[in-house]
Amino acid sequence: MSTPGLPAHDVTDLALADGGVRRIEWAEREMPVLRLIRARFEVERPLAGVRVAACLHVTTETANLVRTLAAGGAEVAVAASNPLSTQDDVAAALVARYGIPVHARRGVDRDTYYAHLNAVADTHPQLTMDDGCDLVSLLHAERPGQVPEVLAGTEETTTGVIRLRAMAKDGALRYPVIAVNEAETKHLFDNRYGTGQSTIDGILRATNILLAGRRAVVAGYGWVGKGITRRLAGMGAHVAVVEVDPVRALEALMDGFAVKTAGEAAPWGELFITATGNVNVFRREHFVAMPDGAIMANSGHFDAELDLAALRGLAEGHVREVRRDVQEFDLGPKKLHLIAEGRLVNLGAAEGHPAAVMDMSFANQALSAEYAAAHHAELEPTVYVVPEAIDREVARLKLAALGITLDDMTDEQKAYVSSWTSGT
Ligand SMILES: NC(=O)c1ccc[n+]([C@@H]2O[C@H](COP(=O)([O-])OP(=O)(O)OC[C@H]3O[C@@H](n4cnc5c(N)ncnc54)[C@H](O)[C@@H]3O)[C@@H](O)[C@H]2O)c1
Repeated sequence: MSTPGLPAHDVTDLALADGGVRRIEWAEREMPVLRLIRARFEVERPLAGVRVAACLHVTTETANLVRTLAAGGAEVAVAASNPLSTQDDVAAALVARYGIPVHARRGVDRDTYYAHLNAVADTHPQLTMDDGCDLVSLLHAERPGQVPEVLAGTEETTTGVIRLRAMAKDGALRYPVIAVNEAETKHLFDNRYGTGQSTIDGILRATNILLAGRRAVVAGYGWVGKGITRRLAGMGAHVAVVEVDPVRALEALMDGFAVKTAGEAAPWGELFITATGNVNVFRREHFVAMPDGAIMANSGHFDAELDLAALRGLAEGHVREVRRDVQEFDLGPKKLHLIAEGRLVNLGAAEGHPAAVMDMSFANQALSAEYAAAHHAELEPTVYVVPEAIDREVARLKLAALGITLDDMTDEQKAYVSSWTSGT
């Protein structure tokens, strides 16, 4: 779409822009690290003239990342990384107020989702910024001639990193990608505290159920699962964990949760949440065993963790929306409920992570983009972790912004921890 004076865009309604600006500025208050980076970028312009394609959830926090990249001189184009996660007021604000080409609308179908990805690919990016690896996949599979133009990329989430590592293992990945998810200041905080809180937020906004006393099942005890279970328990739910990794299962047990198979959990639970990054964790036999009124939500990256085809098959077309973001599947003897169509519940039914936690994830994104622009020639076409210096700098800036200072080791302590001679 073209509007005189505005960049190319496809957003739902430009009239939403003012409200979007207010919410972006509200999020900005909670993002001191990104503000510091933006101030430095305005002076140093480390991304001057670099074309960046960002395929990210279009939220207020992402808008602040995009503003930071633009302040560094980048020419940024934005598409959504999920058909249901776009905040339409934010998309409008990015176009109308900040002059960013955005191709994202909430609730698009698969074809439009990919049309939007192609629109940002048409800008011939030199840096890709992905959340789930869809843009990298598209460039490699459908636009191979363009791949040599790309200097490097960054990837936000666990699922994207798994896909990229698989590509690198097969020799298919043709440019270096920095796995932002692997930064400690990303996954220890974003996946655990951010997704933990916003998943509960999405479930409560969609259903308004009481968690106290409810039997909740969480599949996956990774960073995301740990965050969700701890918060459910804190609100009085009885929590069971489903895992396939024995170490993680033991950890869940010793953290005080019951551990069950999916088959054992299905008839027991009332609320089911998936956070595995895997497919069909709950399937036909589990749906059949779940009690009447059970509620299901997914917080993993793709809408593949619940076997939705099987669920639709069991309901034989008897599906209706009973509340905003809640579908009821009528299985005859009972009804099952699904939130946000099985897509990321924290983004589909709430606003995604709180800005204070995205501050660190997106500080890693901005600093990794700066690093990639400066060092791409030294990097191989494989997956890199965020340099430790960046990770520590993000933590240091966050603590400083919170007014917290740390002790330095004394000279005696430094000598002690680096010596092998002192023992018993
Ligand atoms: N909703 C969000 O905003 C958000 C944020 C961060 C990450 N994510 C996504 O959440 C998912 C999990 O991320 P993570 O960082 O916790 O990953 P992780 O690798 O730390 O944890 C995943 C866990 O799931 C377990 N698992 C795998 N298959 C399983 C199965 N069939 N049944 C039960 N458990 C199984 C694994 O053993 C592992 O312990 C990924 O898809 C990631 O991309 C979503």
